Amino acid sequence: MNEKIAFLLNQQINKEFYSAYLYLDMSNYYDDLDLDGFANYYLIQAQEERDHAMLFLKYMQEVGLKVTLEAIDKPDKVFNNPMDPLEIAAEHERYVTALINDIYHECHEARDYRTMKFLDWFVDEQREEEKNADSMVNRFKLFGHDAKGLYSLDQEFAGRVYTAPSLVL
Ligand code: FEO
Repeated sequence: MNEKIAFLLNQQINKEFYSAYLYLDMSNYYDDLDLDGFANYYLIQAQEERDHAMLFLKYMQEVGLKVTLEAIDKPDKVFNNPMDPLEIAAEHERYVTALINDIYHECHEARDYRTMKFLDWFVDEQREEEKNADSMVNRFKLFGHDAKGLYSLDQEFAGRVYTAPSLVL
């Protein structure tokens, strides 16, 4: 396989684990505020990101590429109010979409149709991730600044349950 694609796939394992760390940090922030529903939402988000990392790892193994695990950066975002993590999450998902698009672009150039097919799941997933992250921001703007509204949102997010990714390798 093209060396650059192998490098980007390996790098994406690290980026997805970093995403898990970032969302875990957000979950901890909400937990400290006793916003347990928000904490639950981001705990599950962290689990999903770990799954994404594992899917990249498994794909590399499936096609015979060596996986090199690198150090995961410390999550260093500062949250000053309950809205901050939501906006940072939306921005972060757009960044991840750009990363996936970059890998896709390289695969297209190299006519690596097999990896493009694998990445299709992530292209769809990123559309969903951005939609959900934007919706969190918009709904917080609508309801989150009033105690009753914030309570309702927290109750709603407490109901999020983890489901394993639909992509299986
Ligand atoms: Fe792995 Fe939230 O994208």
